Amino acid sequence: MKAEMMSPEDKQVLKRTWAMVAPISDAAAGLFYDRLFTLDPSLQRLFASADMNEQRRKLMQAIAAVINGVDHLDALVPTLENLGRNHARYGVTDRHYETVGAALLWTLEHGLKDAWTPAAQSAWTAAYTTVATVMRGATAAQAAEPAT
Ligand code: HEM
Repeated sequence: MKAEMMSPEDKQVLKRTWAMVAPISDAAAGLFYDRLFTLDPSLQRLFASADMNEQRRKLMQAIAAVINGVDHLDALVPTLENLGRNHARYGVTDRHYETVGAALLWTLEHGLKDAWTPAAQSAWTAAYTTVATVMRGATAAQAAEPAT
């Protein structure tokens, strides 16, 4: 994984700001999905059969795994590739990743308030871009596979 996209300072900021969000993770996840469905109401359809309580928990757990593993991101690549392939099956497309990224950054901005500094913004942008690139890359690789 292009872990070099994240500097040591980025990783420090990620851990520090995540520690502020983690205790309010259910509320933050609620804010995130509200924002996501405001940005693109058509996305609700993708979650039609999802238990949203579970979904909020899974999302926050996935972010926690990335932040806890930020010093050894290569170890997370197979898990993220698998997650990316699952998402292609859910009907998630590249455009959706942009919307989810925007909703995530908005949520962090509102959750962190004064702690949402330019350094925090750039660290979270790099982290989301890195994760989304690996997830989407797994789908692209799968699509490029020659038919047998
Ligand atoms: C960094 C990006 C993302 C992360 C870390 C993430 C994380 C997760 C996790 C952990 C699950 C639980 C199921 C599984 O393990 O496959 C899940 C399910 C799901 N995600 Fe994501 N996701 C991301 C991006 C997206 C995007 C861009 C969309 C599109 C709007 C999306 C829509 C969904 C849907 C529809 C489900 C299945 C819900 C269900 O029916 O149970 N996710 N996601």
